[in-house]
Amino acid sequence: MSSENQATTDAPPLTEEIAPGTATDPPVRSEESVTVTVDGTAVTIPPESTLIDAVEAVDTEESVPALCHYGREEIGPRSECRTCMVETDAHGVVPACSFPPEEDMTIRTDADAASEARDVNLDLVLSDHNLRCTTCGKNGRCELQDAAIEQEVEEPRYGVLDDRGEYEPLDDSSSFIQIDRNKCILCNRCVEACNDVQVEGVLRMEGSGKDTRIGFQSDAETMDDSACVSCGHCATVCPTGSLVEKGIEDATTLPLPGFTQKNSIGKVHESSGSSTGPMTPKKHDKEPTSDTPPSEASTSDDEGTDETDVWTDDANSGEWP
Ligand code: SF4
Ligand code: SF4
Ligand code: FES
Repeated sequence: MSSENQATTDAPPLTEEIAPGTATDPPVRSEESVTVTVDGTAVTIPPESTLIDAVEAVDTEESVPALCHYGREEIGPRSECRTCMVETDAHGVVPACSFPPEEDMTIRTDADAASEARDVNLDLVLSDHNLRCTTCGKNGRCELQDAAIEQEVEEPRYGVLDDRGEYEPLDDSSSFIQIDRNKCILCNRCVEACNDVQVEGVLRMEGSGKDTRIGFQSDAETMDDSACVSCGHCATVCPTGSLVEKGIEDATTLPLPGFTQKNSIGKVHESSGSSTGPMTPKKHDKEPTSDTPPSEASTSDDEGTDETDVWTDDANSGEWP
């Protein structure tokens, strides 16, 4: 056996414990304070910074959206969306959220290549998004909407989700969190909030390519069947209307007669509505009671659920009135 093959054979197996979507990023932040120049303004940024901290510290020539950057807690940077591109003298156009600053580095937000990269990447994000903002509970407080307005997007050059693919059903099964994957920009914030901050390990990224989506570590189909404890952290960090706390999912919709978020999508995954209390009990903690027929108390192969989820097709499926 060649030494090369030997090395391959001896390599440790990929561990199944590393689930996709958890924070396994290498450290990219600076170790010391550094002074950089952003659009002609010198700024000193503290240790543990990336270029986005310098960009956010000055009044830049152009807005830099940074949609998958959260900037608080142990979330990111993931470098997924590339809407934060800036030009540096030393390394060309780089993602500001995840690039470590260097002493005396010069950064430009208004360089043509960086500006064009941000615009193209924002249009790519929009191309996979349900842009029906009038029926969205995050209308007016959505980071993607803010970015599109700031970047003066009039018509995304690659179209929108309507032009590109089928809608995923709305997951309305949980009493506490609603998931509309048609608005998800795959920023990964929710996955990190759930796994790495809240340490609940409920969410994951699953699939690949155009089929990439937010899913559940337990392979559950719906939020209600997952091990979610309804803490709401994922909804807090979501930049769009993809994860929204129930009760405010329609808070900022604009009333259009006969047109709602649900019928704009066409299919809704709903629970029977029997969840109670401030927190969804963990499924394995549930005991059958005298009120609960055994067939309902242990319906699934593994841990069971006391709720029956139903798929509903709306008559107006996806038709814009
Ligand atoms: S609400 Fe559920 S899915 Fe969201 S962070 Fe909390 S445990 Fe995770
Ligand atoms: S659900 Fe929200 S936070 Fe999670 S990946 Fe999608 S857009 Fe990001
Ligand atoms: S914010 Fe930098 S890549 Fe998304």
